[in-house]
Amino acid sequence: MSLQELKQKCKATLASEYENIELNSLMSILFEHITGWDQLKQVLNKEQKLPQVKIDQFHKALTSLQEGMPIQYIIGKAWFMGHEYIVNENVLIPRPETEELVDWIIEYASIIDKPLQVLDIGTGSGCIPIAIKLALPNCMVAGLDISESALQIAKQNATHLNAAISWMQEDILNTTYLPNQFDIMVSNPPYIPFKENTNMKVQVKNFEPGIALFVKDEDPLIFYRTIARLGKQYLKPNGQLFFEMHYDQGKALLALFDEMGYHAELRQDMFGKDRMLRASLKRAV
Ligand SMILES: C[S@@+](CC[C@H](N)C(=O)[O-])C[C@H]1O[C@@H](n2cnc3c(N)ncnc32)[C@H](O)[C@@H]1O
Repeated sequence: MSLQELKQKCKATLASEYENIELNSLMSILFEHITGWDQLKQVLNKEQKLPQVKIDQFHKALTSLQEGMPIQYIIGKAWFMGHEYIVNENVLIPRPETEELVDWIIEYASIIDKPLQVLDIGTGSGCIPIAIKLALPNCMVAGLDISESALQIAKQNATHLNAAISWMQEDILNTTYLPNQFDIMVSNPPYIPFKENTNMKVQVKNFEPGIALFVKDEDPLIFYRTIARLGKQYLKPNGQLFFEMHYDQGKALLALFDEMGYHAELRQDMFGKDRMLRASLKRAV
């Protein structure tokens, strides 16, 4: 079969399951991965017959896409702040809103203009600490996760992107000791109450790790409260907490941080939703 024929088959099979824009972007990622050709080369070689091994690879990917597997897990790669990261089903696929959180941290760190100690809690693929280290090479950056298999991917990403990061395997909800004090503690913690999983896309709820997404319905802010408590002990003077958050938890989080002795502010993402929070201890200001 030729590339053109495979593309036609892909479109016909998936057209009812994906919106046009999403399908085009997904196909462009898939066929670049399978052929190793950029868009121009794909156009120039569209009539060329592909070897059987590539055709088999295509059919396997098509079945996975029909089942709802995200394209990033199929090709084993995702992009974050212009860099390619290895991903598999043990790590969350890095999201654009998390890039906005990292942008905020870089903006803040550039104003402070001194080497900072940074800890990322719930690091997953390692995208947050690695992106910070690449942007701010003088910072000392660490990443922590409960999941050994996630940390394995984070370590591979750090090696592949040449970023020196310290890694820790810890359950932050049961940690009373951290090895350092930090200028910045950042987290994109699990924040989706279990009860919301019925409204979620199959691609997310059936394929991304539940431990990365969900939090108990009875206490959806548990990670924020725990990290705020640790921050009292492990933030350096003028230290800052940065978080990603559920768009409808802004009010509750502002109240929680105020009650725990922090000044906190929200920031909106590119769609105008409250998706990020920064907090610093009241006594430090
Ligand atoms: C929403 S994901 C964020 C991953 C990555 N930082 C990102 O932004 O793409 C949350 C991460 O927290 C980790 N996690 C869940 N419970 C944890 C706990 N009790 N202690 C430490 N990490 C935890 C998960 O393994 C997952 O990697």
